[in-house]
Amino acid sequence: MTDIVNLKKELTSEITAANDLKALDEVRVSVLGKKGRITAIMKTLGGMDPEERKTTGQALNVLKDEIADLLKSQEAALKKQAMDERLATEHIDITLNTRPERAGKVHPISQTIDELVTIFGAMGFSVAEGPDIEDDWHNFTALNFPPGHPAREMQDTFFLPEDPSETDPEKARKVLRTHTSSVQIRHMENNAPPIKTICFGRTYRSDWDMTHTPMFHQMECLYIDKGVTMAHLKGCLTDFVRAFFKIDDLPVRFRPSFFPFVEPGAEVDIGYVKLSNGGMRLGKAKDNEDQCWMEILGSGMVHPNVLKNCGIDPNEYQGFAFGMGLERSTMLKYGIPDLRTFFDSDVRWLGHYGFDPLNRPNSATNY
Ligand code: PHE
Repeated sequence: MTDIVNLKKELTSEITAANDLKALDEVRVSVLGKKGRITAIMKTLGGMDPEERKTTGQALNVLKDEIADLLKSQEAALKKQAMDERLATEHIDITLNTRPERAGKVHPISQTIDELVTIFGAMGFSVAEGPDIEDDWHNFTALNFPPGHPAREMQDTFFLPEDPSETDPEKARKVLRTHTSSVQIRHMENNAPPIKTICFGRTYRSDWDMTHTPMFHQMECLYIDKGVTMAHLKGCLTDFVRAFFKIDDLPVRFRPSFFPFVEPGAEVDIGYVKLSNGGMRLGKAKDNEDQCWMEILGSGMVHPNVLKNCGIDPNEYQGFAFGMGLERSTMLKYGIPDLRTFFDSDVRWLGHYGFDPLNRPNSATNY
């Protein structure tokens, strides 16, 4: 028994002295291995008288368990120590920036589209899509300007060869769409009301000067339900332009206007002030300033003929729609002076006016 007590003292101090995992493993083998010290005493049990064998055997088993526990906790302590050392000496610097010349930029039009999706998404609108190459029916006739209607003159575009596989002449005649209003028709042909959608895309007209390019982008909005009124149109549009330009009291004016596919129709103007340095500021005029207005979009209550053309009963459903040019609103919001530069594909322009993909303005930022 004294052997066992001494062995325990000896082993305990050897284990606590082992200062790495290799040394600890050597202690383990020297105790519990085939030729280990506990094993050696075990082997002497056979020569003992029964009483002694019993007490020694029990004491040995207790010792074995105690030593096993001790080995385990020392191993855990050594592993933790090794990990702490690694954590203290090795680290990866995750704060290092990407190389600036490698970072891409988000095009201002894409930025605007994402902002609009967020604003209208919060109001419950989803995003619809339609083709750039339209037919006469979807771009004009279904929108209540049939062939020969004078309003077609305002939207001269690029006409493409007829599609010989189409029997309906209005569907055979292909055009590059002049506006995203064609997506209103496609959406109403394929979906029953209530309808609450927005749509973005390229549109085409044969124009080219300081403020017009043959291709530009539009956003379209369509809301069809029972009991929709002009008040909904005004509320939705006012909230939207104020959220988009981030000016809570931005003046908004509705001015009667004509589009064949709405009745009544209104152009929407927002307020700005001319500054003495030749620049301008969007927003409300102060007492000593003149309030000026600029047009930013066309809107109106969807014409009953348009609803009928899409198989919707205008006595049951009403709605509003609007269409807005994206370049113009982007230029106004982000101070981009020339429309044509949007399509020059100059990376220096994109580097200047584009947005850092990891630090883009959103509804929570104040820029
Ligand atoms: N499609 C019209 C345009 O391009 C804008 C508009 C859309 C007006 C919807 C009224 C309703 O000028």
